[in-house]
Amino acid sequence: MVIERRVSAKEINPNEEQVFSSLRPSRLDEYIGQKDLVAKLRITLEAASAREEPVGHILFHGPPGLGKTTLSHIISHEMGSRLVKTSGPSLSRPFDLVGILTDLGPGDVLFIDEIHRMPRPVEEYLYPAMEDYEVDFISQQGPMARSIKINLKRYTVVGATTRPGALSAPLRDRFERVHHVDFYSEDELQIIIDRSAARLDVPIEAGASVELARRSRGTPRTANRLLLWVRDFSQARRDGAISLETAREALAMESVDEKGLDALDRHYLRTIIEQYGGGPTGVEAIAATMNEESDTLVDVVEPYLLRTGFVQRTRGGRRATLESFRHLALNVPEGRQGELWSASGKDAAEDS
Ligand code: ADE
Repeated sequence: MVIERRVSAKEINPNEEQVFSSLRPSRLDEYIGQKDLVAKLRITLEAASAREEPVGHILFHGPPGLGKTTLSHIISHEMGSRLVKTSGPSLSRPFDLVGILTDLGPGDVLFIDEIHRMPRPVEEYLYPAMEDYEVDFISQQGPMARSIKINLKRYTVVGATTRPGALSAPLRDRFERVHHVDFYSEDELQIIIDRSAARLDVPIEAGASVELARRSRGTPRTANRLLLWVRDFSQARRDGAISLETAREALAMESVDEKGLDALDRHYLRTIIEQYGGGPTGVEAIAATMNEESDTLVDVVEPYLLRTGFVQRTRGGRRATLESFRHLALNVPEGRQGELWSASGKDAAEDS
């Protein structure tokens, strides 16, 4: 059984992208959360503006949906420059990258999403393009092959990745600034939800935005997705406004539970508990049992479950904590009752 994550999928479709872009802030002043990151980014942007230079290359890393793309929009907007968007997997040949690079104007921002998935031969073209603003392009093949050096305008790469560890050292070293994007607090998410509701012109009760914030897995993209669903639910089946009761009904229909876990999260936890006795077990085994990609589990499902203490990563693999058993109302197996399977357990050895 493959469970589709409808409210917090990794990919965003073009339709959704349009709605989200109307909700995302375009200025740093409007950005909610990531206080330290925003303060440092503001300094970088102000100093570059004062020098009348493009910003140095910036890498954002962290789980999906936390604002990496939004920040790239803000950087280009604040610098008054053009944003060109691409992604690691779409740059399958060096030629694709060279084409984009040679089209860039001075100060343009090149956003490369999922930069860790860029093929290595393409990546090697990016090193001199980032460091010296030039690319050596091989024209033709065989005996007629010639290397042509192309000078580029001074531009800025903004890279985004859910896997900083998967980036090669030479690529990581070419970023002047590296920022970690973290989960948001419920208060921050509530402000984001209230703002989005105002932009969408949907009345929302304070209790309802608190509830949505609580169930948004610390993630603005999830918060906005839940809000859009609850709005649709209310417009189609209720009075168009979002009361606490309406929000709860809509969320129940979407199988988003009290802790914000959805069907995919619960399937993951149940797999560890029911198929592997609570663990520890390897992520590849869990993925194979669930018929899911292990990358999806590692990048999309696990970060929030680790953060909230539903699972632990130990040297022996993943294991469900006492909180998971309780949350799913499952019994701890005989003989393991005494183990303190909790996020605060002192034997919770994190692996590297
Ligand atoms: N919409 C999505 N993310 C946001 C953020 N961090 N601040 C304000 N609005 C947002």
